[in-house]
Amino acid sequence: MKINKEASLTPKSKRPSDFSLKNARNLLGQTSECQPKVFVKTFGCQMNVRDSEVISGLLDKAGYKLTDDETKANIEILNTCSVRQLAEEKVWSAVGRSKAKIIGIVGCMANNYRESIFEKVPKVDFVVGTADIGKLPKILKEIEKHKGGILEKKIYETDADFREDEIYHTGFHLDKEHAFVVISEGCENFCSYCVVPYVRGRLRSRDYNDILKEIKDDIEAGITKITLLGQNVNAYKYEKTDFVKLIGIVNSIKGLNEFGFVTSQPKDTSVELFLAMQEADKLKKYLHLPIQSGSDRILKAMNRGYTRKYYLDLADKYRTIVRNGALTTDIIVGFPGETEKDFQDTYDVVKNVEFNAGFIFKYSIRPHTEATKMVDDVPKEEKERRHALILELQKKISRNKNANSS
Ligand code: 5AD
Ligand code: SF4
Repeated sequence: MKINKEASLTPKSKRPSDFSLKNARNLLGQTSECQPKVFVKTFGCQMNVRDSEVISGLLDKAGYKLTDDETKANIEILNTCSVRQLAEEKVWSAVGRSKAKIIGIVGCMANNYRESIFEKVPKVDFVVGTADIGKLPKILKEIEKHKGGILEKKIYETDADFREDEIYHTGFHLDKEHAFVVISEGCENFCSYCVVPYVRGRLRSRDYNDILKEIKDDIEAGITKITLLGQNVNAYKYEKTDFVKLIGIVNSIKGLNEFGFVTSQPKDTSVELFLAMQEADKLKKYLHLPIQSGSDRILKAMNRGYTRKYYLDLADKYRTIVRNGALTTDIIVGFPGETEKDFQDTYDVVKNVEFNAGFIFKYSIRPHTEATKMVDDVPKEEKERRHALILELQKKISRNKNANSS
């Protein structure tokens, strides 16, 4: 899954002009100062961008004012990412900088560190896990009641197994034309480097009737494009509906002009999916298919469930079946035990497959994962060298591809 920059959340359509807001409050006998303002800061992937919309929609419904000006916020919610150590470091420094009266850590880091966050950063008031975000309006009310009192409260909620479908139906979107639609949550592939199964839980596919309702409501609100989201999107299965079937169903929705999906696991990607992609006229011909490594030895240690040859065949089939289909990937360099030969295998794959784009990461040890039992033996400088080499190669390939397609 691709990583976005930090983002703040108040869609333009929801931003009231200060003038009219003030007038309205004066009529109600309220001043804008006493109305708590919430700032939601997003770290991480598109799933988190969508989760922040869900959080904002729920708080908006509960009567909270949202702001995109951090300095004016009384309440700051950090929707966090744990995918690499660097992502977490960014969050810790953002908490340090925050001047908000009430501060909450929500999302992947909440599940990763739970109540120990209160010890590490005492100024944090609440910690809410990825499956518990529906409880946020209640939690905020409770924290507000006690804030500044003799018995200040700290709340943490990180144990829910699944989300209620209702939370997806607030109609809150950052973009007027495009919406992210979560079709499944969690992942149970347990790739040995990956924290996701521990912070997002086991794979849960949403009832497709509910997904369709959400999309139809979005279309009624003016949305014309959607992206289906899942950490392992093509493992979707609800009763007899699998991902291939879902693509056909979504394609036939009236009023929808374009759709896409992320992120696919190669072992769950099939020729049937490519045929469905080619058939679906509204589907963007774009596949993000993380290979992670081109070395069979490392793929095995990563527990990816496929070989280099399987991936290369799959990429070939994709390009044959899905005409003009773009192909992008993720790669991790410096995984424990990665030798120069393993690295060269990855380098060769990048050279031969000619991805349209590639996201290259340096291995970062993550709590809970199987790889913590392995020795992180590739020195930092060597990780940097390998990272720079593949990045440079991919940049050249992307430049050539873009020049040829324009
Ligand atoms: N170290 C480095 N990169 C990682 N990714 C996931 N976990 C780690 C880790 N521990 C990368 C993978 C994934 C992308 C979202 O982040 O390439 O596809
Ligand atoms: Fe997204 Fe994974 Fe980061 Fe969580 S840890 S925000 S699921 S990329």
